[in-house]
Amino acid sequence: MKAPYANELGRNEPGRNPIVTASFLVHSKEIRQKKNGDEYLSLTLGDRTGELDAKMWDNISEVRDRFERDDFVKVKGLVQIFHNRPQLTIHNIWRMDDGEIDYADYFPCSRRNPEEMWTELRGIVASLTNPHLKGLLEAMLDDEDVAARYRRAPAAKQIHHAFLGGLLEHVLSVCALARPAAAHYPQVDADLLLTGVVLHDIGKIYELNYERGFSYSGAGQLLGHMSIALRMVADKLRGLPEFPDGLRTLVEHMILSHHGRLEFGSPKLPLFPEAVLLHYLDDLDSKMECMRALIENDRQVEGCFTTFSPALERQVLKKDRFLAGEAEGAQGARHPAAHPAAGEAESAPAAPPAAAPGVAAGPPFSPRLGSPFADKLKQALHPRQET
Ligand SMILES: [Fe+2]
Ligand SMILES: [Fe+2]
Repeated sequence: MKAPYANELGRNEPGRNPIVTASFLVHSKEIRQKKNGDEYLSLTLGDRTGELDAKMWDNISEVRDRFERDDFVKVKGLVQIFHNRPQLTIHNIWRMDDGEIDYADYFPCSRRNPEEMWTELRGIVASLTNPHLKGLLEAMLDDEDVAARYRRAPAAKQIHHAFLGGLLEHVLSVCALARPAAAHYPQVDADLLLTGVVLHDIGKIYELNYERGFSYSGAGQLLGHMSIALRMVADKLRGLPEFPDGLRTLVEHMILSHHGRLEFGSPKLPLFPEAVLLHYLDDLDSKMECMRALIENDRQVEGCFTTFSPALERQVLKKDRFLAGEAEGAQGARHPAAHPAAGEAESAPAAPPAAAPGVAAGPPFSPRLGSPFADKLKQALHPRQET
């Protein structure tokens, strides 16, 4: 097991050595220029617990070609708090051989067992009573390549369920929402809704690469997961000549419309009840998971709110911290200024890394850290640091 993990760095624990040696997967690598023209290295490093911004300010010519994105590296450096988040100033960096790696340390994965999840999905499909829909889903899930990828694929590159097994976890979660929702509305065909749930994101198994870091495949970039899913359905239906044409069109429509709006990539709005339900349940599940992950992975050392999430278009309240602060305040244990109003959490501006010669310290106008505006502005100026 590797140590330390990304989420252990930057904790303000007395006696903790700010100089660390740790191993990570390189999620991004950029060569940037300081104001004086010298180059520096800007990296995003990650492991299964999250990501860490890292900079190497000097002597990068010695190390810049030692590794690339998606390599495993060992780094030695100084952990500091910068803009309320941990940042690593790299002193040295080496590429690691794959033989030294325990992959489970570097890739986030579902907390649920993939085989258990797969058995649950197969059970849901077996429970369908419409023979055509059941036949289509069984043909799809009996495909060995589909089955292997469906067990492993994330549901997204970044936004929600972005971990191995995430697609399956997401689909099962939406199935669990779909059953009582279908029972609640008598006009809804539960089999059709569940078919839409199982197939709506199935194209992601080919849209994304997930052997190392998560990225879009060539087909993913060019076609997107809805078009890929339609191809997959067409491929399976060639072996099911009795499948009714009208039912096929409904299934295809559910796949195409599940993002709900044209500007979110669906070429059609959902036009019948099962399609509308699929869209809202899918959206609900992805937002709830996005919010959970945002709170759990937020690295800000102070304040009650997470960084701004472009996906959710808001900051999210860290309820436990908020309530703990309220409780302390109620006891009068600390000066009220130590408990700023929600969303206005102040923190002493952390000094930028000491060894950052020639790099602008920040914009001349520096909004309060932790405010929504500050987060949005930082994101616009330094998008890599905030996402
Ligand atoms: Fe989707
Ligand atoms: Fe989805």
